[in-house]
Amino acid sequence: MTVNEDELLDLAKEVRSRAYAPFSGYRVGAAILDGDGNVHSGCNVENAAYPEGICAETNAIGSMVAAGGKRIARIVIVGGRDGLEACTPCGGCRQRIREFADDDTVIVVVDADGGLARFTIDALLPGSFRLS
Ligand code: THU
Repeated sequence: MTVNEDELLDLAKEVRSRAYAPFSGYRVGAAILDGDGNVHSGCNVENAAYPEGICAETNAIGSMVAAGGKRIARIVIVGGRDGLEACTPCGGCRQRIREFADDDTVIVVVDADGGLARFTIDALLPGSFRLS
């Protein structure tokens, strides 16, 4: 199975609708197309013990790994309180994406104008830590 970016965006919006975010009210969805053409998704899951909340990207990556996916070809991230707002991955999620990203991995987010912006992991996390 493979999907185009619009379909990945639709999936990110769909999974965002199921986010559990009673504390921040900020719901995030992430959809990944992996290197084998398979799709994985995740939403943020908050917790009354606030630091235990988990980001959407982290859950999507966990789903990918559990399903046997190896690399991220494209990841679409959408977030916001009511409608979609400009939402880029937090620092921790950038590092988690880094782990499974290649130079041509495309990270797609909604920009301030409501359009889509596309980044490489090197643009979002320059000089990132990697074990040699
Ligand atoms: N959140 C994500 O899911 N991904 C990010 O990259 C940034 C923040 C979530 C965490 C929390 O549940 C809510 O958004 C507000 O910070």
